[in-house]
Parts: sequence; structure tokens; C-alpha cells
Amino acid sequence: MIVTTGSLKGGVGKSTVTVNVAAELRRLGHKVIVVDADPIATTSRWIGDREERSPEHALVPGIQKRGNLRHTLLELDSTYDYVLVDVGGYDSPEMRTAATTSDQLIVPMKPSPPDLDILPEFVDLINQFLDFNPELSVRGLFTQAPTHATSRKLGDAKSILADYPELPLFDTTLYQRAAYMDVMPLGRGVVEWNSSKAKAEVQVLVQEMIANG
Ligand SMILES: Nc1ncnc2c1ncn2[C@@H]1O[C@H](COP(=O)(O)OP(=O)(O)OP(=O)(O)O)[C@@H](O)[C@H]1O
Ligand SMILES: [Mg+2]
Repeated sequence: MIVTTGSLKGGVGKSTVTVNVAAELRRLGHKVIVVDADPIATTSRWIGDREERSPEHALVPGIQKRGNLRHTLLELDSTYDYVLVDVGGYDSPEMRTAATTSDQLIVPMKPSPPDLDILPEFVDLINQFLDFNPELSVRGLFTQAPTHATSRKLGDAKSILADYPELPLFDTTLYQRAAYMDVMPLGRGVVEWNSSKAKAEVQVLVQEMIANG
């Protein structure tokens, strides 16, 4: 199963989603590899930090790759249960070749105007991916959602998404929680940390992802 996390925007939580899904899949005993196709290399750093700072947790192997990812991903797919791909937050050969080779595309978004404003452009791109890869399952995922009960941001954003049937949402939302930032430099996922709320939302996300496959 090849799962790409992609977006036309930076800072939406792509790498956070990739590494947390990787940690949970490893915890569940799956064979996982992360393909870091973003020159910023956030996920590769996380993998290095994991080896150095959290050696008690199961190793997550990773590779860095630029350009056309197709053959690399297909080759890895024959060996691993899950090939998780992290691409840069812009239109790129890496995102296009990954999305047209993947089984699933996860699209993280913050529930706020800059992320929602690019939806028409991104949905056009998704339609191109689907032309080449009709089996691709695409799901939007709200991340960094405000935790205060009075905020209407998430509800408002969800109603905007209702106008984009090409981008159905995960039922799960990842909320703004310090745990996601705290675990990153340790090379851990929130499922390997003391935040029960963050852990629960990542576990539900991974269960949904497995069910979509
Ligand atoms: N749910 C969350 N709660 C709190 N902080 C978060 C959450 N998700 C991401 N962050 C923080 O937001 C920042 C951006 O996240 P991340 O690096 O995952 O985004 P990205 O889409 O991969 O960015 P880039 O385009 O730069 O690769 C990081 O500092 C990360 O720790
Ligand atoms: Mg990133």
C-alpha cells in the first residue's frame, strides 16, 4: 500500500501526519518505509532523531528521493506493507509521480482561509491524478484545529469542503496539540508519548486509512 501525503501549501502538517502514521503502523507491527521527497527533509531528520534519541522504539527505515518516484515506489511496495511518501508543499514532479502511483492520497489542511483558498486549484490537480490513477483514494484531513470549544473554524471549514466531493474528509481531525511538536525532535510519534488525546486521534486516523485501503 502506497500512501502519499501531499498539498499545494507548506506548513499544513504533511510531515507530522507522515511520521505519526509511520509510528502507529510500526506499533501495530506493520512493515513500513518512509520516502522523503521534500528537499527540506523533515521526515529524514525525524528518522535520524529516532535512531539516536529513541532507540527503544522500532526503527522506521527511510530513503530520500527526488524527481520521478514511480519505479522506486512500486519496487518498495513489493517489500513493505506501507510505503509512506512525504512531498513538498507545492506542485512538483515528486507529488505528481507519487500521487499517480499511490493507493491513497492524504491532503492535510488547516481549517483556515489560506489553506481553504487553494482548494479549487488543488481539486483540479486531484482530477488530473484521478485521470491517470482512477483507483486513487483521496481524503482531506483537518490538522491543527483549534481545541477551544467556542471556535467555529472547524465547522465552517467542513461546510466549505462539502462543496468539493472530489475531496471527502477523514472523519478524524488532528487538533492543535503541543504533543505533535514535542515528539518531533525525539523521533517519536504521539502514540509513543503521554498525550492520550493526540494518541487517540492518530490511532483513529490510521484505522480509517487501513479501512480505506
Ligand atoms: N496537530 C498539530 N498540533 C500542533 N502543531 C502541529 C500540528 N501539526 C503540525 N504542527 C506543527 O506545525 C509545523 C508544520 O508542520 P509540518 O512540518 O508537519 O508541516 P508540513 O506540511 O510538512 O510543512 P512543509 O511544507 O514545510 O514540509 C511544525 O512545527 C509542526 O510541529
Ligand atoms: Mg514537511
